[in-house]
Amino acid sequence: MDRARAIRSSGLNSHSRLAEGRQAALLFYENSTRTRMSFESALGRIGARALVLTEATSSATKGESLRDAGRNLEAMGIELIVLRHPDPDSSEYLASQLQIPVVNGGAGAGEHPTQGLYDILTLEDALGSLEGKRIAIVGDIAHSRVARSNFFGLTRLGARVVFCGPPTLVPAAWRELGAEVTDDLDQALCGSHAVMALRLQGERLGPDTPASPGEMRARYGLDPAILSKYPELFVLHPGPIMRGMELSHEVADSERSLIMKQVQSGIFVRMAVLEECFGLAAAVPGESRRREAVR
Ligand code: CP
Repeated sequence: MDRARAIRSSGLNSHSRLAEGRQAALLFYENSTRTRMSFESALGRIGARALVLTEATSSATKGESLRDAGRNLEAMGIELIVLRHPDPDSSEYLASQLQIPVVNGGAGAGEHPTQGLYDILTLEDALGSLEGKRIAIVGDIAHSRVARSNFFGLTRLGARVVFCGPPTLVPAAWRELGAEVTDDLDQALCGSHAVMALRLQGERLGPDTPASPGEMRARYGLDPAILSKYPELFVLHPGPIMRGMELSHEVADSERSLIMKQVQSGIFVRMAVLEECFGLAAAVPGESRRREAVR
C-alpha cells in the first residue's frame, strides 16, 4: 500500500519501469474489463511485457488443463502469471505447481485480493485510518470474491464490516468470523461510513435463484431517496455495475461515489504488487530501509 501511494505521488501516468524486459502472462478463464486492462496497463507502466491469453482462444477449448497451460508458459520463460479463473482455489493450486509467482486476478467466489487492496486504499483516501470505521457491503455476498477479500483486509485494519442482503445470499457463518449480518438495509447503513454495493452474480447462480432481481432492487438497491438519509456515506462498487439494480444512475455518478477512484487506485496497487512479485522491492529507492524499520 505504501509503495502504491509512492508510485501514485508521481501522477496518474506514473511509470516505474523497474521491470524493464520482464514478461508476464495474463491467463484469463473468465471475462474481465477492469482487472485485465488494469494489470495490462500496470505491467506496461513498470516496463514489463504483458502476454494475454483468454480461455476462449486457448487450447483449454481442446481440453488442456490449467496446470499444463501454466507449465508451458513457464517453459517459455514467462516470469509471472496473473490468473483469473472460476475455481476459488485456482491461484494457490497453480502456484503450487510452478516455480514462478501466480497473482490471483479473481478466483471464482473465493478471493480477489488486488481488488480488496485497492478498495482499502480508496477508503483510506476518503476516511483516513480505517480503525473503528464501519463499512457496509450490500447485495450478493455469498457469491462475491470481492466481499471476502474486503472483509479480510478491512478487519485486519481494525474496521467493522456489516454484510447485508437476503439470508439466501448472506451466509450466517460470517458472524463467526466477526462480521455483522443483517437483511435490513437501514440497519446496515445507519452508523456506517461507506457502503459497497455488489451485483447479483448471475453467472454463479444455479437454476434455483436464491433471490429475484426485482426483490434485490426493491430491498437493497441504492437510490437517492435511501442515501439522502445518510448524507456522509461514501459509495463504492467493484464493477461491473448493473445500473438500475444495485445502484441507480444518480448514485453511481454522484459526488459521493468513489467508483472511478477505486479503478484508478487499482493501477497503482497492481504496479506495486507486480513489482513485489517480480522480486523488485529491493530495487525501490528507500524500500529496503523501510522494510527493515517495519520488521
Ligand atoms: N472488478 C472486477 O474484477 O471487474 P472485471 O470483472 O471487469 O475485471
